[in-house]
Amino acid sequence: NSPLSRKEARRAIHASNVEVNGEVWKDTGKHLPTGAQVLLEGQQLTVQGERYLMLNKPAGIVSATHDSEHSTALDLLPTELIELTRNLHIAGRLDADTTGLLLLTTDGQWSHRVTSPRIECPKTYRVNLSTPILDSTIQDLETGVMLHQDPKPTKPAQVTVLEPQLIELTISEGRYHQVKRMLAAAGNHVVALHRQRIGDIVLDPVLEPGAYRELTEQEVASIG
Ligand code: URA
Repeated sequence: NSPLSRKEARRAIHASNVEVNGEVWKDTGKHLPTGAQVLLEGQQLTVQGERYLMLNKPAGIVSATHDSEHSTALDLLPTELIELTRNLHIAGRLDADTTGLLLLTTDGQWSHRVTSPRIECPKTYRVNLSTPILDSTIQDLETGVMLHQDPKPTKPAQVTVLEPQLIELTISEGRYHQVKRMLAAAGNHVVALHRQRIGDIVLDPVLEPGAYRELTEQEVASIG
């Protein structure tokens, strides 16, 4: 009972040999609901569900699936997991020197909801600054700043001051080096950057740098 290739699976679907939850499926583009019962020629299949992980990204790791020169986030996962889940990809990259919450999934629609600028899923960063934050800087960040070589101002961000040189910044866009560029545009400088939260998913404090865990069902469902 070896797995079908994509081509074989498509053929089986077109030949009406696949039933999902008691209904014959002819459409190969349909999204399989979690927990669906799938029959191939009357035999029940074990369906490998989508995978959703959070990783506490250490510094010095690039947010890529493959990189010949640097260690990547996927290199931190066990090889069995990578082999099982060929479509595993990062939902929202971080710079190599940024640490914290990185989401990985096989579910392309889900990662689109995390990263699409239209959907505006908020991301919260803990930002260490080179100089104490000024009230005027907070105001600028909360209104929107112009980034170098970018025609549109940033969308209003939320700022919480934890210490004079440590803030929490929540943004709902994901432009290139956005947080570093926002602080530079506002006259400060990012010394260290750590992502704490994406939507309602908070980095689990039990995860040491480099460690990962599966998301809970509630965490998965919270994106959307
Ligand atoms: N903003 C940045 O500048 N870098 C990141 O890694 C994430 C957001």
